[in-house]
Amino acid sequence: HEFDLVITNGVCVTAGDVAPYDIGIKDGRIHLLAPSGSLNRANSARIIDAEGAYVTPGGVDCHVHLEEPALFGRGSSSDTYETGTRSAIAGGCTTIVTFAPQNKVEPSLLKALANTHIKARGNSYCDYGFHIMVGNPSEQALSEMKTLVENEGVTSIKIYMTYTALQLRDDQILSVLLKARQTRMLTMIHAENGDVLNWLTDQLESQNLVAPKFHSSSRPPILETEATNRAIALSSLISNTPILIVHVSEPGATLRIRQAQTNGQPIFAETCPQYLFLTRDDLDAPGLEGAKCVCSPPPRDKASQDAIWTGLSNGTFTVLSSDHCPFNYEDAERGKKTCITVAHPAGRFREIPNGIPGVETRLPLVFSSGRLPLTKFVEVSSTGPAKLYGLYPRKGALLPGVSDADLVVWYPEARRPDIVVSNAMLHHATDYTPYEGREVANWPRYTVLRGKVVWDRDDGGVLGQKTFGQFVKRGPSLLGRIWETVDEQGEFDVAGL
Ligand code: URP
Ligand code: ZN
Ligand code: ZN
Ligand code: ZN
Repeated sequence: HEFDLVITNGVCVTAGDVAPYDIGIKDGRIHLLAPSGSLNRANSARIIDAEGAYVTPGGVDCHVHLEEPALFGRGSSSDTYETGTRSAIAGGCTTIVTFAPQNKVEPSLLKALANTHIKARGNSYCDYGFHIMVGNPSEQALSEMKTLVENEGVTSIKIYMTYTALQLRDDQILSVLLKARQTRMLTMIHAENGDVLNWLTDQLESQNLVAPKFHSSSRPPILETEATNRAIALSSLISNTPILIVHVSEPGATLRIRQAQTNGQPIFAETCPQYLFLTRDDLDAPGLEGAKCVCSPPPRDKASQDAIWTGLSNGTFTVLSSDHCPFNYEDAERGKKTCITVAHPAGRFREIPNGIPGVETRLPLVFSSGRLPLTKFVEVSSTGPAKLYGLYPRKGALLPGVSDADLVVWYPEARRPDIVVSNAMLHHATDYTPYEGREVANWPRYTVLRGKVVWDRDDGGVLGQKTFGQFVKRGPSLLGRIWETVDEQGEFDVAGL
C-alpha cells in the first residue's frame, strides 16, 4: 500500500486555516495532503470517509495530573496513567504533558523524573511528556535543570506560590527563574497568594464558615491578581525570563498579563474549561455536592467567564488545558470526602482536595461551544501548547513528512449524535464529572494516534492499547523566539546589575 490510512472528504482545521483536504498517512506520519476526494480510491490499508466533517490535529493537553500523591489537600489522584490516558484519547487528546512531582524532602529532580517514568512507561494510551513540579529548589535540583533540558527532553517546570507541600518564597522563585533562564526552561507558575488564602481560611473557619462554597470566599480574585502581578515582576527582574501563568480564572490577572504582553514581556498564560463553564454557584450545590467543583483557583462569576473567553479570542491565552487533577467524590480516604470528620460531619472546605477531572471533556466542550473560531480552537488546544512546550511541529500540526499522524475526526452535521455528558460515558477512573448533564454538540468520532485508530466512538470505543503511548522528548519552547536574546546577550543581566 502507498498509505496505511487515508482520511477522505474531511475539512481540515489547523491553527492557520479551514480547508477541505484528504490526508494520506504512512509510517505514523502525515504523508501528504491532497485535494478533497482525490484519495478516496487510494491504495491504502484503510480509508475513513469523514463525510464532510471537520478534522483537527490531535489535542495536546499540557496540564494533566496523574498518579500523584497528596499535594493539594489530603487526597491522591483517582486516575493512573492507564485510566487518565484512556480518557484522553476518548476525548480526542493524543498528547499530554503530566507532572513529575518532586517531594519536599527529595533534593533531586532527576529522581522525581525517574519515578514518574516508571509509572507511565507501558501504561499510556497516548503520547506523553513530563514537567517537573519543583517543591524543593535545592542546590542539587537547580544544578540538574541543565541535564533535564539537554538529555531528558524535559523543558518545563512548575512552581507554586501556594500549597503547604509546594509553596516557594519569592527568593526561591527568583533562584529557580535564574536557573530557568540559563537553561532555557519554561517556568509554569501557580499564581495564588498562599499566605493570604491560609489567613482567610482561618478567618472563615473561626466563624464556622466551612461549607464547600467558602472555598471560593477563601480565594478571592484579588489574591490571584496579586500573585500574577508578582510573578510577572519576578520574571522582569530575571531579565524577562519567560513564564507561563497557569489556570488563569479572573479578569484582574488576565488584564495584568495582557499589559505585560503589550509591553513586550514574554508572559504566557493558560486557562481551562472550568473557568469557561463553571461558576462559584456550582460550589453552592446541596450537601457536599459543591466539593465536585472545588479546584484552585476556584470557578468565578459569569463576568469572569466572559473575560476569559475574550482572553482566548484576543490571544492573551496561548493554551487551553484541562488541569485534569482527579479525586473521587465518594472516597473517604483519598477523595473529596476526606473533608468529613467527626468534628465536621458536613465537611470542611479546607480538607477538600483541590482539583477536578476534565481531560476527556476539554475538547468536546470547547469545540461545541461555538464561542471560538475553529482555527482559534485548534490554536489554543493543540498547536499553541505544542509550540509553547517544544512539541511542535511533530505535534499540533498537519505538516506532510514532519507531523505525527495524530488526528481527530469529528461528526459531520448530518450525523451529529445528541450527547449529554454523563460520568458513565467517560473513560477515567473517577466517580464523577463536574459537567454531568451538559449537552455538547459534537464529540470526537475517531481519534488517530501516529496513524492508528485508537478511538472509534461508534464501533468499539477505545481501540488503542496502553502500551502504544510513547514518551516524547521535548525541545525548548518555540514561542516568540524567546531564547534568542539569551544567545545574543551571553551572560544576561539580573535586575540591571
Ligand atoms: O485545583 C487544582 N488546580 N488542582 C491541581 C493542582 C494545580 O495547582 O494545578
Ligand atoms: Zn507518496
Ligand atoms: Zn496549579
Ligand atoms: Zn494543575
